[in-house]
Amino acid sequence: MEKSEREIDILIRARYPIIFVATYEEERFSSFLDRLSKQQNKRLLVWSITSGMQKYGETGVDESTRDPLAALNCAEKETGPAIFLFKDFHPYLSDPSVVRKLRDLSSNLKSTYETLVLVSPVLTVPPELEKDVAIVDYQLPDREAIGKLLDTIIKAVSSRGTIKLDAPAEVKEKLVDAALGLTFNEAENAFARAIITDNALGPKDVDRVLSEKKQIIRKSGILDYFHTEEDIGSVGGLDNLKAWLEKRALAFTRKAKDFGLPEPKGILLAGVQGCGKSLTAKAVSNLWQIPLLRFDVGRVFSGVVGSSEENMRKAIKTAESIAPVILWVDEIEKSLSGVQSSSFSDAGTSARVFGTFITWLQEKTAPVFVIATANNIDLLPPELLRKGRFDEIFFIDLPNQNERIEIFRIHLMKRKRKPENFDLEALASASGNFSGAEIEQAVISALFDAFVDNRDLLTGDVEKSIRATVPLATTMSDKVRNLRQWAETRTVPATARRIGIAEQGRKLEF
Ligand SMILES: Nc1ncnc2c1ncn2[C@@H]1O[C@H](COP(=O)(O)OP(=O)(O)O)[C@@H](O)[C@H]1O
Ligand SMILES: [Mg+2]
Repeated sequence: MEKSEREIDILIRARYPIIFVATYEEERFSSFLDRLSKQQNKRLLVWSITSGMQKYGETGVDESTRDPLAALNCAEKETGPAIFLFKDFHPYLSDPSVVRKLRDLSSNLKSTYETLVLVSPVLTVPPELEKDVAIVDYQLPDREAIGKLLDTIIKAVSSRGTIKLDAPAEVKEKLVDAALGLTFNEAENAFARAIITDNALGPKDVDRVLSEKKQIIRKSGILDYFHTEEDIGSVGGLDNLKAWLEKRALAFTRKAKDFGLPEPKGILLAGVQGCGKSLTAKAVSNLWQIPLLRFDVGRVFSGVVGSSEENMRKAIKTAESIAPVILWVDEIEKSLSGVQSSSFSDAGTSARVFGTFITWLQEKTAPVFVIATANNIDLLPPELLRKGRFDEIFFIDLPNQNERIEIFRIHLMKRKRKPENFDLEALASASGNFSGAEIEQAVISALFDAFVDNRDLLTGDVEKSIRATVPLATTMSDKVRNLRQWAETRTVPATARRIGIAEQGRKLEF
């Protein structure tokens, strides 16, 4: 049994009268409830607007119970242990008499062995019912469930004989991983499609299933599978942060778990724009060999896709089902800037949804490592910074002289130049106050100059483009000063001033 299935089992046995289950997977959920009702020796009756109340598995229509109120009356009259599954009942929760009837039932059913289970992809519980209804998020299928599905498919395939089967244990494991995050039906379709493409099931299908999953997840509009070539070698400086990350490279492995290590929860990277926050987030994915999911929190609140509650729940559910995964929230302050003020305007919906996220950050048990970045700390809600949300808050400052040398080296190499042919020391000295992004731009614009002159790049070209640049940190020096002051008491520097400063955890708590 999965976690949410265990939860439902317990709720029913504890005689919670009404349970609201949020899921798209009506079929898989119904068959779970069928197993559960047999275990608990209860009848399972299923209602939908088209067929009325029926015994589970029976077809046909019962006209007399198609009406939602009639169905509830029918459930009330039933004696003996039973579970009533109401499919897509949410539209009728806007009917006052239905709501009233549910409230009556909720107190009457407490003394019986009957439970109403409302299942729907849309979670809408009217406030009058909030105290009477237990809400459960039905999890997406876990490794075990997807593994079983794959086994069934493999069995069917091998009995046919027309399809080439090349799926040893390690390929199977990868196929299962590739399908995590999908619903049961989506996974089944993805496997079937992968097989049909070449009449074979083998290692090649891992990528096919994965790309199908990427598409499905992208369609949600909120999460995006992010593929990146950046590795930790393309991040210059930030030794403290890199050491922290490198130390945890194996933290999500079985071995680390057996050793008794807790899984890291997440980090917040705050600091000057263009200094490698987003770059580091991308690099961690390759360093740890864990997929990267970009989470567009702004879209959760935008109202473009679905309600914000739905969106947040779905995103969390998807991330958890794919875990271990890195959930990257870029420029979190931008997406949350409306949250505080909107608590006055729209009855606090955004604040509540953001609260869900914070609570999840604090309490999550699935190995979802959150990397949030922020440029503008003024817009960060204070509750995000409280202890327990992140393992560490790192401050990313402008690169120092040595770091600038490293960053020049990285970007010259990226542009197919040999760093030893350049006076890196002089370039770094000339580019005080430059961010990593500005150093990169200086190299690129120098390359253009050399290209136009039809000769190779020289130190002088880069120096010239450095002189032509006024770094952002100079024009916005107040902002940088503010940021540093703020960081002083709240963060750990990403660049070590002394060795081991991160380990000392020099931080104030709120
Ligand atoms: N520390 C760094 N080392 C190497 N390149 C850097 C560094 N910081 C910034 N860059 C370059 O600038 C680009 C933009 O940096 P980014 O990480 O997006 O900045 P931000 O901190 O605003 O998220 C990077 O893709 C990279 O090419
Ligand atoms: Mg960024």
